[in-house]
Amino acid sequence: MGVHLLKWSFLLMTITMIVHTFIVFRGTTPSVGNKVADSLAQVRCTRLREKFISMRESEKDTKSLMEDLSALMSCPHKINITQQERYRVELRSCCNATGDLILTRENTQKGQKIKYETNRKLSKVVDKSIFNMLPKSTAWRNETRFKRCAVVGNGGILRNSSCGAEIDRADIIIRLNLAPINNSRDVGTRTSLITVNPSQIRIGYPNLEKQPQPLAERVSAYGDAPILIPAFAFTFCTDISFKVHKALHVVRPQQKVVFFNPDYLFQLFQYWKTRGLQEIRLTSGLMLASVAMELCDDVHLYGFWPFAVDLLQQPVSHHYYDNVGPSRRMHAMPKEFLQLLKIHSQGALNIHLAQCQ
Ligand SMILES: *[C@@H]1O[C@H](CO)[C@@H](O)[C@H](O)[C@H]1NC(C)=O
Ligand SMILES: *[C@@H]1O[C@H](CO)[C@@H](O)[C@H](O)[C@H]1NC(C)=O
Ligand SMILES: *[C@@H]1O[C@H](CO)[C@@H](O)[C@H](O)[C@H]1NC(C)=O
Ligand SMILES: *[C@@H]1O[C@H](CO)[C@@H](O)[C@H](O)[C@H]1NC(C)=O
Ligand SMILES: *[C@@H]1O[C@H](CO)[C@@H](O)[C@H](O)[C@H]1NC(C)=O
Repeated sequence: MGVHLLKWSFLLMTITMIVHTFIVFRGTTPSVGNKVADSLAQVRCTRLREKFISMRESEKDTKSLMEDLSALMSCPHKINITQQERYRVELRSCCNATGDLILTRENTQKGQKIKYETNRKLSKVVDKSIFNMLPKSTAWRNETRFKRCAVVGNGGILRNSSCGAEIDRADIIIRLNLAPINNSRDVGTRTSLITVNPSQIRIGYPNLEKQPQPLAERVSAYGDAPILIPAFAFTFCTDISFKVHKALHVVRPQQKVVFFNPDYLFQLFQYWKTRGLQEIRLTSGLMLASVAMELCDDVHLYGFWPFAVDLLQQPVSHHYYDNVGPSRRMHAMPKEFLQLLKIHSQGALNIHLAQCQ
């Protein structure tokens, strides 16, 4: 009984003190109160960033991860130009998206062997018809730096995000894997570059040679944005990619189909491998985020989200447009996402997970 009473009076005392402090700060010196709160928040944000910079996979359970992520998203984003430049220099010297992201008539010769990205023993000789499919040079050769770039992932977290207007404000908007843009409030309307996964074509457009219209209609949603396809990732990709090129060349000549340079993707794979990413192949999301980090001053990622629950731990669909996808292991924190959070916390790019204003 006595112990109980002691506990209660202690609790009461603590509450009284807190309330008092609050009243003092609010009543007499509001600016001091705000300053204290501000510096506490700053310390908390610095700690959080440090935590994400050194975090290991499997260190966290989903609940505390979501709490930390919510807190991180409410911290002001700090850009660190030194870090941005470090990544830019590293990526340019390993991989060089500036000159080598896509195969062009500048970086490819007739008769040259193109080595496959995932099996360097296999190659394809560049004959006349392949050479003629290549553009003269990279479209951005004369403008090697873009200001603000948005890479839009397809995660269900984009639903009801209201991020569309913010995405559309970027100078360059990169979308992935033929993502539909039928919800402009959340995902915007503009596109500068769209990637295609050859499997999507194999499954969705098996009769492309005879019926190019359905694909032409689908890609017309991106205006004249070039279509980027990994024609030399696996051997099965090559024929499909050439078919896409040929089909669209006839019905939509204004919209170019360009091929990822497999050397670029191979080098990029090595780059991330030395930083601890051991996987069979990088996701298109990380590929294009890397491209943006090399070519853009200010990189913003939207819709990158590998979990089945959102920040409030409510179920979230796999994509913002459907719920079809590989099953996800809930508790292993996907390594790529961890890597991106690290770069976010270092101040070299900006991941958006919360609703946009
Ligand atoms: C930016 O990052 C570098 C390298 O980690 C660090 O030394 C520097 O203090 C950071 N700058 C700011 C303004 O945070
Ligand atoms: C990247 O490619 C461009 C264009 O081909 C070239 O001028 C530049 O020297 C290359 N940069 C590096 C670091 O290899
Ligand atoms: C890019 O620069 C080269 C050389 O300065 C020039 O010949 C070419 O027309 C330019 N291309 C574009 C698309 O502006
Ligand atoms: C999005 O908002 C609409 C309307 O407010 C609501 O009906 C719907 O359940 C929300 N969807 C998600 C995934 O939160
Ligand atoms: C967007 O397209 C997907 C499939 O392409 C469809 O399931 C979804 O209902 C569409 N959403 C809206 C808002 O029209």
